[in-house]
Amino acid sequence: MKVLVIGGGGREHALVWKMAQSPKVEKIFVAPGNGGTRDFAENVPIGANEVEELLTFAREKKIDLTVVGPEEPLLLGIVDRFEEEGLPIYGPNRRAALIEGSKSFAKGLMKKYGIPTARYEEFTSYEEAAEALREAHYPLVLKADGLAAGKGVVIVRSQAEAEKALREMMVDRIFGKAGEKIVIEEFLEGEEVTLLAFVDGKTVLPMEEAQDHKPVFDGNRGPNTGGMGAYSPVPHLPSGWKEMAYRTILFPIVEAMWREGIHYRGVLYAGLMLTQEGPKVIEFNCRFGDPEAQVILPRLENDLLEIMEKSLEGRLHEVTLTWKEEACLTVILTSPGYPGAYPKGLPISMKGELSPELLLFHAGTKEEAGRLVTAGGRVLAVTALGSTIYEAREKAYREVGKIDFEGMHYRTDIGLKG
Ligand code: AMP
Ligand code: GLY
Repeated sequence: MKVLVIGGGGREHALVWKMAQSPKVEKIFVAPGNGGTRDFAENVPIGANEVEELLTFAREKKIDLTVVGPEEPLLLGIVDRFEEEGLPIYGPNRRAALIEGSKSFAKGLMKKYGIPTARYEEFTSYEEAAEALREAHYPLVLKADGLAAGKGVVIVRSQAEAEKALREMMVDRIFGKAGEKIVIEEFLEGEEVTLLAFVDGKTVLPMEEAQDHKPVFDGNRGPNTGGMGAYSPVPHLPSGWKEMAYRTILFPIVEAMWREGIHYRGVLYAGLMLTQEGPKVIEFNCRFGDPEAQVILPRLENDLLEIMEKSLEGRLHEVTLTWKEEACLTVILTSPGYPGAYPKGLPISMKGELSPELLLFHAGTKEEAGRLVTAGGRVLAVTALGSTIYEAREKAYREVGKIDFEGMHYRTDIGLKG
């Protein structure tokens, strides 16, 4: 098979790495890829959002399967376009992707079908939102509707904090158009966990869980990022939570979409809070998580391409997922300033040999004049498997110590809870 992977982050490097192990694979292309994907695939200089160019490429190269990593091309309708042209592609179509692309669509669907999530209210008027905040009890959560690369969420603990955040979103438009509509949400307390599932429209196959670390600094301080590190499995969760999440959330949302005429096909990401009352939805995403993919894919024993092919045939019920007993942990190295503005093009150096056991997934890197340099906010995902989380953590951090670039930042507490 000839495969085209779309995207260029750590998640896509992990996808390409995993697919390269499939005996079905003859050649992998990745668009645009990064400084690490070239080890397993041919990087193609087409941006992930250039739908028509990607379509032309897939047709000319006779690609047997295109796999979409990030949400943006999905929301641009890349799956709809490929399907119109009869080209096989794995991922949800545009309407299905709205489960991530529009918080108000996702919230509306959950309300209609009784799927547990935080109570919320939507506003398009700054004055009305400010009024609601004056009468509210804190803490609360403010969210910009639409895509904001995981950064459009602010937890506010007082009215003053809330008003400042609201002004930034709706007046100063720090998240751009995503701030036209905002959601004010109940603050959920509990342990947070990511549960991903393969979905073929009807069958929902949950994967092993993972825990992300969103705030930029140790101890969950500072602004939210796309994710600073992750590990899997997550041992300290209440027993039976996963069955309950499948029964009350994952299966019902896929069935709800089916009833609305939306056949969800692809990876469904459920960000859950395990509250006293059971799991509740924080958000759905329409794709693998980043960095969750980097710790889940190394634990997956199945052939990923076979899972995707079966999904496209509507035969996912024939698949049984099997997992390595080992734990996996990833530490993200970021550019100085991330998630705010950051410099690019900083040379990356390695002190000594990296362990051959290490899985070094590149996120924002590229090769420039024969040198590896930074090219994004999240630069590298330093990933290790181990017989325990403790061991995976020790191995990953040992390798982190060998990597350096100017202003490199990372959290030192990834996986500590686990
Ligand atoms: P989101 O982009 O919606 O996943 O939100 C980013 C992060 O904000 C989540 O991973 C949570 O840690 C936190 N968060 C979002 N919504 C809530 C909520 N209703 N209650 C508590 N924390 C939340
Ligand atoms: N790690 C969070 C996300 O992929 O959205």
